[in-house]
Formats: sequence, C-alpha cells, structure tokens
Amino acid sequence: MKTKKSGPNYGNWVSARFVLVPGTIGLLLLVAACFLPGLAILAVIFLLVAAYFIYARYLFAPNGKNLQMKIWELLLNHLDWDGKGQALDIGCGNGPLVIALAKKYPKGLINGVDYWGKNWAYSQAMCENNARLEGVENNVKFQKASASQLPFPDGSIDAVVSNLTFHEVPGQVNKRELLREALRVVKKGGPFVFQDLFLVEPYYGKMDDLLETIQDWGIQQVKFIETRNEPFIPKVLKLPFMLGTVGILVGKK
Ligand SMILES: C[S@@+](CC[C@H](N)C(=O)[O-])C[C@H]1O[C@@H](n2cnc3c(N)ncnc32)[C@H](O)[C@@H]1O
Repeated sequence: MKTKKSGPNYGNWVSARFVLVPGTIGLLLLVAACFLPGLAILAVIFLLVAAYFIYARYLFAPNGKNLQMKIWELLLNHLDWDGKGQALDIGCGNGPLVIALAKKYPKGLINGVDYWGKNWAYSQAMCENNARLEGVENNVKFQKASASQLPFPDGSIDAVVSNLTFHEVPGQVNKRELLREALRVVKKGGPFVFQDLFLVEPYYGKMDDLLETIQDWGIQQVKFIETRNEPFIPKVLKLPFMLGTVGILVGKK
C-alpha cells in the first residue's frame, strides 16, 4: 500500500479558534433559542462570523486558494538582493520565507528568528523539518530570539525581511522601535522588505511621518506599497481586521 508523502506545514494565518469560538457560541445560542426565541438572531450573527472565517481559512490555505504563498511571493519579489552573504527573516513562523529565500538564493545563508510563543502553533522543530522536506536544510539557520532585541551585530546582515510579525510583538507598544531594530542589523546599502499592519496608526503613526522618520534614521531609500491593492487580493479580505491595513515597506539602508 502506498503511503502519502507529507509536505511542509506552513500553518494558516487564520487560526482555527476564529472558527471554533464563534461557531460553538452560535450553536449554543441556537439551542438556547428553542427556549428564548429572541436569541436566534444572535445565534445567526455568531454562525455568520464563523462562516466568514472558514472561508478566509480556505482562501489562505495551501490546499485552498493559497493566498499566503502569493503574499510571501509578493514580499520576496520586492527584495532586490544578489543572494551573496546572509539574509534574515524576523518572526519566521514555520519558516516559509526562510525556505523560499534558501531555494531562490542557494549560495546564501538564510537565518530565521522567532519567539515561538503560545499564540501560534509554530516552532523551531517545525521550521527545521520543513527545511529538510524542501531540501534546503544546509543553508538555513533557525534560532529563538525576539524582534525587539535581535542577536546580530549592527550592519551584519545583507538582506532582511519580515512578514506580519511586528504587530504581534507583545510589550512593544511603539512598533517603530521594532523597525529601527530590524534596520540596525542591515548592512549599509542592503535591501529590506517588511510587511505588516502599517496603516494602523496607533502602531505606526501616519504613513508620511513614518517614511520621513525612517529616512531620518539614515536609510537611503524607503517606499510604501499597499498590499490590499494587489489584484489577487479578494474583496472579502480587504476588511480592516484582515488585509485592509497591511502594506509593505521596501528599501535600501
Ligand atoms: C502572523 S505570524 C507570521 C509568521 C510568518 N512570518 C509568516 O509569514 O507565516 C507572527 C509571528 O510573529 C512571531 N512573534 C511574535 N512575537 C515575536 C517576537 N517578540 N519576536 C520574534 N517573533 C515574534 C510569532 O511567533 C509568529 O510566528
């Protein structure tokens, strides 16, 4: 009997709990509505929320519409790197960007750091296993570290990327400081591409001001691209709590 070869596991950005919590509450309310009919409307609302997140999970999943992969590719397409030296992905999750970089630039050493806390079902072991399954285990290196204190000297990394990580960092209210820390480790003239919720003003302030501040840090080039304007992003994902506030900062130090 043939056994099915399992592939890498890069997870799904829409956690299953976004389906399970409203789904369970909706079903309980539906039962309660047999006795208190007024609860039926609330039950329908919760069930619709669960249905929305089921659909969103399908859109992002590799065996669905695989939007995660398209968004990782979008980010990497903006990285203007020659593949020599070292790259770093900050908040690498299960390692998709590190592995994609390793495949694209087989001569480089690609580092991935992550805090691997309880909020996400990602781990260093999963990254290493994914790298093995993708055949790039020899030019990747994963380590546990925080985005707010990267274990690399100033200007030591040739290219730096990060995807949807900075807004997740607990205890760091001013997300600009995380950008500054990420840029600290980039080599002078080296490229960087960061994707995050850059349009959420309580995190980053106004975009014009953010770009000006980054230039004041001595960064020679930086521009902003709105992810939601990419033609492959469906309308249902342009809501502010999904991809509506996501954008990319791309530049050279
Ligand atoms: C939305 S996930 C994105 C993961 C990955 N970049 C991707 O594109 O699939 C956010 C990631 O940020 C990581 N993270 C949260 N706080 C962090 C910190 N202080 N330092 C490094 N990574 C952190 C989480 O563990 C998680 O892997």
